[in-house]
Amino acid sequence: MTANHFDTKINRHQSGSVKWDDADFLFGAEGVLPLWVADTDFLAPAPVLEAIQKRAAHGVFGYPSPRHQGFKALQGWLKKRHNWEPDEAWMVSTPGVVTALSVAIQTFTQPGDKIIIQPPVYPPFFSSVQRNGRQIIENPLINEGGNYRIDFDDLARKAKDAKLLIFCNPHNPVGRVWSKEELKELTAICLQNNLLIVSDEIHSDLILQEHRHIPLSSLSQELAARIITCMAPSKTFNTAGLYTSTVIISDAEVRKQFTDSVQTLGIAKNNVFGIAAQEAAYLYGEPWLEQLLVYLEGNADFLTGFVAEKLPKIKIKKPEGTYLAWLDCRELGLTADQLGSFFANEAKVGLNNGATFGQQGEGFMRLNFGCSREVLREALERIKQAYKKERF
Ligand SMILES: Cc1ncc(COP(=O)(O)O)c(C=O)c1O
Repeated sequence: MTANHFDTKINRHQSGSVKWDDADFLFGAEGVLPLWVADTDFLAPAPVLEAIQKRAAHGVFGYPSPRHQGFKALQGWLKKRHNWEPDEAWMVSTPGVVTALSVAIQTFTQPGDKIIIQPPVYPPFFSSVQRNGRQIIENPLINEGGNYRIDFDDLARKAKDAKLLIFCNPHNPVGRVWSKEELKELTAICLQNNLLIVSDEIHSDLILQEHRHIPLSSLSQELAARIITCMAPSKTFNTAGLYTSTVIISDAEVRKQFTDSVQTLGIAKNNVFGIAAQEAAYLYGEPWLEQLLVYLEGNADFLTGFVAEKLPKIKIKKPEGTYLAWLDCRELGLTADQLGSFFANEAKVGLNNGATFGQQGEGFMRLNFGCSREVLREALERIKQAYKKERF
């Protein structure tokens, strides 16, 4: 396997992919090149494919043992990659992180309770709170010339009567990998106010530049008792369609409550392919991941260089983590709808409209660069042509 492995273009049309097969329908335009929803266009690592094929070849797909969920492999992975060694007994399977968010909301808060999120942020953070009839309290990130940071003073004020914080680390869409100092300040406020934290760390293996992911729970034991960590191999190894994730809770009572909810809902189950993939990814996927990170770093450099040079009114900062770039298009002077229409109808490129990440995202677009360099180049050329045509 070489880094060029990621250059291989795989035709995803007619594979039932929401990103590719639904793009024209969702963006309301024909021939849209999709760089939106957060999965990548890359083939999963060979050991993951082999594990799934082996499991399929077995041919009997009865109920999997709850004692075989790939937790040991995850434990080894977290120790190796993030210097954190949670006990296997702290791990609970969930069919996806968004599901886990809802379970946590239902378990640890009551209808009407206040839940803090930090927009612009992943849209299901909003919808999970709203759909469960809880109240969203926004602690917006501060944007200083494309550098985002947490507004701790505002958080301290709002934490007083809130029950839960849903935290995104690394942050989708702004691409921050929060530093130890930032995490400490955040958790100090949460401890003082008895706030529980759901720490969504689904992007934790996608770290760029010199940054390092720090699992929030690894900071201290006292703190860990207040934290519900969500992890999954899905962003990293491109297995989102297998819906397999793990929630890690060190506190026995908090874990019992969460597990009870998962059982009440009847979702304490994983599918056999998800388990096989998760185990193989965590046991054998590291060399592939190292290659992926080199490739993504290259894509991020290419993207930021192109935008700075050829699309001067669009501002971009190289993300510290994730394969998502946050384009500040406010200088184009378009409303959120006009901006969406410009990218879909004029450029024929499918990006996520920043407005869906909260009102702080209006005037921004999110671009997923988890694709071959060729697709990325094509998308950027399309945007450049449309940009020229509009004489921005
Ligand atoms: C921060 C974050 N959490 C959760 C998810 C989705 O998780 P799942 O597919 O496991 O529900 C995403 C997907 O983009 C994400 O960016």
